[in-house]
Amino acid sequence: MAFPEAWLTELMNKNDIASVISEYTELKPRGGRLWGHCPFHTDKTPSFSVSPDKQLFHCFSCKAGGSVIQFLMQADNLSYLDAVRNLAQRAGMTMPDEIDDKKLMAQKLRRERIYEANREAAVYYVKALFGPEGGAARRYLESRRISVETAKRFGLGFSPDAFDALYEHLTGKGFSREVILEAGLAVTGRKDPARVYDFFRGRLMFPVINAYGKVIAFGGRTMGSDEPKYINTGDTPVYNKRENIYAINLLKGRKLDDVIMVEGYMDVISLHQSGIDNAVASLGTALTSQQARLLKRYAPKVYYAYDGDEAGQKAMLRGIDILRDQDIEPRVIVIPDGRDPDEFVKAFGADSFYSLKDASITGTRFKLERMAKLAGVETADGREDFAREACALLAGLDPVERERYVPFVAEKGGLSAEAVREQCGVSPAADANNTVRPRYNNYKKPRRDNERVRFEKKLLSCMMTSPENGLEIGRGAGFTPELFSSASLRAFALRLLAAYKTGSGSNIPVMLAELEGEEADEVTDAYSSADDISAPVECAADIIANLRLNELKDELSRLSARVNEAPASERADLMREYQTKYAELQKLSK
Ligand code: UTP
Ligand code: MN
Repeated sequence: MAFPEAWLTELMNKNDIASVISEYTELKPRGGRLWGHCPFHTDKTPSFSVSPDKQLFHCFSCKAGGSVIQFLMQADNLSYLDAVRNLAQRAGMTMPDEIDDKKLMAQKLRRERIYEANREAAVYYVKALFGPEGGAARRYLESRRISVETAKRFGLGFSPDAFDALYEHLTGKGFSREVILEAGLAVTGRKDPARVYDFFRGRLMFPVINAYGKVIAFGGRTMGSDEPKYINTGDTPVYNKRENIYAINLLKGRKLDDVIMVEGYMDVISLHQSGIDNAVASLGTALTSQQARLLKRYAPKVYYAYDGDEAGQKAMLRGIDILRDQDIEPRVIVIPDGRDPDEFVKAFGADSFYSLKDASITGTRFKLERMAKLAGVETADGREDFAREACALLAGLDPVERERYVPFVAEKGGLSAEAVREQCGVSPAADANNTVRPRYNNYKKPRRDNERVRFEKKLLSCMMTSPENGLEIGRGAGFTPELFSSASLRAFALRLLAAYKTGSGSNIPVMLAELEGEEADEVTDAYSSADDISAPVECAADIIANLRLNELKDELSRLSARVNEAPASERADLMREYQTKYAELQKLSK
């Protein structure tokens, strides 16, 4: 919702962010900011800060951040509009009836419309499930032992097996073709783009609902044995699967000790039905850092309970690092006999699942065990390989934590504890500069993703130091918006440059105030450290060179993997491409 800038500025000035937030958490001054316990997660030390001059809040632990508007949205679970209304009321201001920015307004309205279409579709699917055409779907649910009560709690539905039943229904309700297509509820015919048909047909439907209670996407399961088993909404203006978590809506407003992360819709639902109501699923197998940050608002610890297959194991390995990066403690529940959580809890009940949880292992232990299995510690060679790899991993831990794993590595590696400690001392620490190619899948993979976003934030910080600096950086060599892999940082950088160029509206606190919940976090993080940068233009140039370097390195490693797999006929071309890129890399490194 884009309000007139002058009005929004007045609203922000009249609502001192520190005094509003003080109603929720006690704040004490230290080092030019105010500090308190973060109201959005279990916060043992005060990691939540408020900068009255920048009119922002920022939690150094869970990375929540934004203006007073985003604070109220999150603290009181309000929509953007309602948070603004609340603040207007506090300040004794009337809401403006003129909304300023036509384009932004249109975008907001379009998103609202997509939410409405999704909600209407969800209702339609539920009705179909419990109506005359839902017989087979209800029987399917029964066969999966999902009660009607549970189905209702999760908003499960059924998409009729008809060409365009939902599309007709939605157009009948006044939704435009564009909105329905944009929501991913219908698609155009491949041969005849004029024809529109329902994306989900004849499937059991799982709505994905965000923390604000909005239906943002769907998953649909076949009830037969055809492939694919599930189809899901792709990215839309209101949905990005990398940023959302299935069943997060059921955690809202609760402070939990931990969350159980599973792979599938059915796993979440079965666990909840059996009384384990802190289960969620990442939508797709690998957890992203955005998802980890979201989880952090609810619990400090995540128990992985993925499937025992190779894909599940690999996804956990990646996820463990991502969670640790966000200061979330990762643990792994090992489910016996290749069952998934749904099958296990149905066969043995919730108590048995809790027993598995009690017997869970740390993320590091999980990595070590996998390493031992892959190295084959039955042979002397295998034990040696294992010892080397394991000690390299331990070398990256702090000494206290390391000590815990020394006996395990000693035993599996056939070494004395003393030898393990010594080897840890000589092993290269598991850091991003370690160029040794990891032998185990994803083990010790440099955390470039995260490093990358850190660089991007710093680049944005540099641009936020002043309009002059921002413009100079924007004009500088090598700058393109694509440098920002994070969509929210990219969008903000573009708006910032546009505002700087026109000389208007470079009121950053107000720009911040216009961002949507999750987007605000990243930009606030960048803004909150803008003061610490001494030579922003030079710093930005370094970062830009660095980002390009990393990009090239990624491309090169992808290329070399392809060279290895490619048929001989394609190899020469790939090699040439590799060499060109490599030359470019060398030039940049200088
Ligand atoms: P699984 O194949 O483990 O399915 O995929 P599941 O959850 O155990 O499903 P049931 O028990 O057979 O009904 C795990 C998750 O991966 C995604 C879905 O989110 C699924 O829940 N997935 C799987 C897809 O998106 N598409 C697929 O074709 C398969
Ligand atoms: Mn399953």
